[in-house]
Amino acid sequence: MNISIIGTGYVGLVTGVCFAKLGNKVICVDINEKKIEMINKGVPPIYEEGLEQVLVENKNRIEATRDYRYATQNTDVTFICVGTPSEDDGSIDLKFVEEAAEEIGKQLRNKDGWHLVVVKSTVLPGTTGEVVLPLLERHSGKKAGVDFGVAMNPEFLREGIAVRDFLEPDRIVIGYYDDKSREVLRKLYSSFSCPIVETLLSAAEMIKYASNAFLATKISFINEIGNMCKKLGIDAYEVADGMGLDKRIGRAFLDSGIGWGGSCFPKDLDALISWAKRIGEESNIISSVVEVNKRQPLKMIDLLKKHVPELKGKTVGVLGLAFKPNTDDIRESRAIPVVKQLLKEKAVVKAFDPKAMENFKKMFPQIRYCSSAEETLDSDAVLILTKWEEFKKLDYTEKIVIDGRRLLEAKNTAKIYEGVCW
Ligand code: UGA
Repeated sequence: MNISIIGTGYVGLVTGVCFAKLGNKVICVDINEKKIEMINKGVPPIYEEGLEQVLVENKNRIEATRDYRYATQNTDVTFICVGTPSEDDGSIDLKFVEEAAEEIGKQLRNKDGWHLVVVKSTVLPGTTGEVVLPLLERHSGKKAGVDFGVAMNPEFLREGIAVRDFLEPDRIVIGYYDDKSREVLRKLYSSFSCPIVETLLSAAEMIKYASNAFLATKISFINEIGNMCKKLGIDAYEVADGMGLDKRIGRAFLDSGIGWGGSCFPKDLDALISWAKRIGEESNIISSVVEVNKRQPLKMIDLLKKHVPELKGKTVGVLGLAFKPNTDDIRESRAIPVVKQLLKEKAVVKAFDPKAMENFKKMFPQIRYCSSAEETLDSDAVLILTKWEEFKKLDYTEKIVIDGRRLLEAKNTAKIYEGVCW
């Protein structure tokens, strides 16, 4: 198939590159010239494990441009993969989705033949049918379901393993407006062996939000249980292992610690809460999930103070700044509230992260950044905030370690060791 992708952020680029790998011809559209140039040279503008190799191997089937006209005229399907930034009240800003829908609509006006428009950006239930579809109709002067198709196909890609998640999904969700759109997406995904869920546009949108909210709920739930475990001298990981064997529960996303961060869970849960309010519904569980997650990182400071009661002037080593390992992304990283609190208590903070220091520096220029993880250990106490592989090799024997991610190597060797939920 010939596919165009609007937006080359991590979802758009991974989607485009993977569709090319599956044998499709792909045209990526972005407004950023530098990104376009890089993609056309076979260099991904973002770091994502395995992406560069797939891009290079399929370079003859993928190109990037600014030109909406070229992209829509030369493809049969267009995926909208632009960002949906958060507003102050948690709701999402649809500006880029709307702009993309307008542009595609304008191009469809002059295109002969049927075209399918698929929303992949994470949007609240109702957006594809009530915002995107009318914009497409208005700007094209054509009729959805007759002259062009509309579908919603959410992504479930985890940063760091997005290529694998795309190529080996647990399920594919196709929300469709008209039968032809469903048929085309069925064909596009025909080589996948996972279940394909075919449903309403709004149900597809909700599946995405509900999935992220549920995963975050699992984590906050086990963190709440983990806090009780800590008081009782129980290892929350043994509890999670015992629970996880029940097929109805499952072990995944029951790793307790200092909670969830990243560009997706915090934003999506906030959006869901704010949207529930708008439609006059309650979101008690989701709101509590967010509250637990806000408090969880500060448990580390309480534990630290058990061993270093006065933090003023003390040197605290922070191992890990990224919101999870194998990324330089610090968005909503649990390191942010922890470092803020340490600074508030006038501790001297020295930090190390294999990839995320440059990003963290922009937010916290005042702390000391170490050139190695070992250097960070030379402190009055050490906090482990991200489970990077290389932190396993450090020598913790003489150290006071407060661990937010359950690094067994530190647990088994540190002089004084406190795990958040174990
Ligand atoms: C998440 C979802 O897992 C993806 O399915 C989804 O597509 C994506 O959001 C999105 O909406 O685009 P991601 O944000 O990349 O993916 O990160 P995860 O691997 O899910 O981790 C999120 C956070 O939860 C991290 O801070 C991680 O450390 C934490 N976590 C995860 C735990 O604290 N415990 C766990 O058991 C699992």
